[in-house]
Amino acid sequence: MTAPELEVYLSDSDATDALHHDVRAGLSADPKWLPPKWLYDARGSELFEQITTQPEYYPTRTERELLRHNVREIAVQSEADTLVELGSGSSEKTRLLLDALMATGSLQRFVPLDVSESALRAAMLAVAQEYPGLTVRGAVGDFTQHLELLPASRGGRRLVAFLGGTIGNLLPAERAAFFTALRAALDPGELLLLGAGLSTDPAVMLPAYDDAAGVTAEFNRNVLHVLNRELKADFDVDAFDHVSVWDPQSGWIEMRLRACRAMTVRLPAVGMTIHYAQGEEMRTEISSKFQRAAFGAELREAGFADPTWWTDPDERFALILAAAT
Ligand code: AVJ
Repeated sequence: MTAPELEVYLSDSDATDALHHDVRAGLSADPKWLPPKWLYDARGSELFEQITTQPEYYPTRTERELLRHNVREIAVQSEADTLVELGSGSSEKTRLLLDALMATGSLQRFVPLDVSESALRAAMLAVAQEYPGLTVRGAVGDFTQHLELLPASRGGRRLVAFLGGTIGNLLPAERAAFFTALRAALDPGELLLLGAGLSTDPAVMLPAYDDAAGVTAEFNRNVLHVLNRELKADFDVDAFDHVSVWDPQSGWIEMRLRACRAMTVRLPAVGMTIHYAQGEEMRTEISSKFQRAAFGAELREAGFADPTWWTDPDERFALILAAAT
């Protein structure tokens, strides 16, 4: 096997700076909010993996089945020599794509991009061992910042996979900026494969973000453990309740943490002392659920051709393959 290469666009101190910046901005705002990426330390990533096996959480298994059924066609349509995976989470989906692209004989290179260097190293090593002919070149980076640094195509076509519905965590303006930056990084004909949650019955969507076993609640509260550890903050984590709401105007599920009582919290590393009123709610994540026509228009506006869509029979989730024009 060729030794996998790793490039670091994002150092630990960059991540610390970003956390400090986000906490200063979000916790001084009214209402308070935090960006969802801080949910995913090692414990948070483990809790998310547990969420994906809860009966109420349909997105992961729906996407996996969609990919299983359609991956051959995706591989044939894309004829990619390079698979770029953004936020290279669950390895099972990666392998479905790698297997199908290997079977068409086009694939040469795998380029996973992730903010977590440790997760990336482990994933790269496993893939390099399982796919001996494949060049593996990972990058530690943030998909909202480092797209222009992705290795260029070398005459072949890149397929950029952004799965899991993570696109839904971006606010509309962030999403537009992401599509534009990605389009700018691609040559005409290169491809984006998106996994996206679709707008459906709130009675289906809401329980997915509020499972009966309480795993999502634990996942949500974990962000406060992250702040306690990283910023020497003194959040009383158990004094916050998990709340999830469907906002039909915005078309997203919002996760919040609600203060059970009035509290003063100190965050020495950022020099802040903040107050929560009893019942005050702080946003920790949005998870947008899309409508096909509007989403297609967003992609078109960013410079992608009319995409191919695959959806499950209940139309809860979509795989979307769009070529740069
Ligand atoms: C991993 C971002 C796709 O938004 O559904 C799961 C994260 N949050 N339960 C999602 C999540 C609450 C998940 N994504």
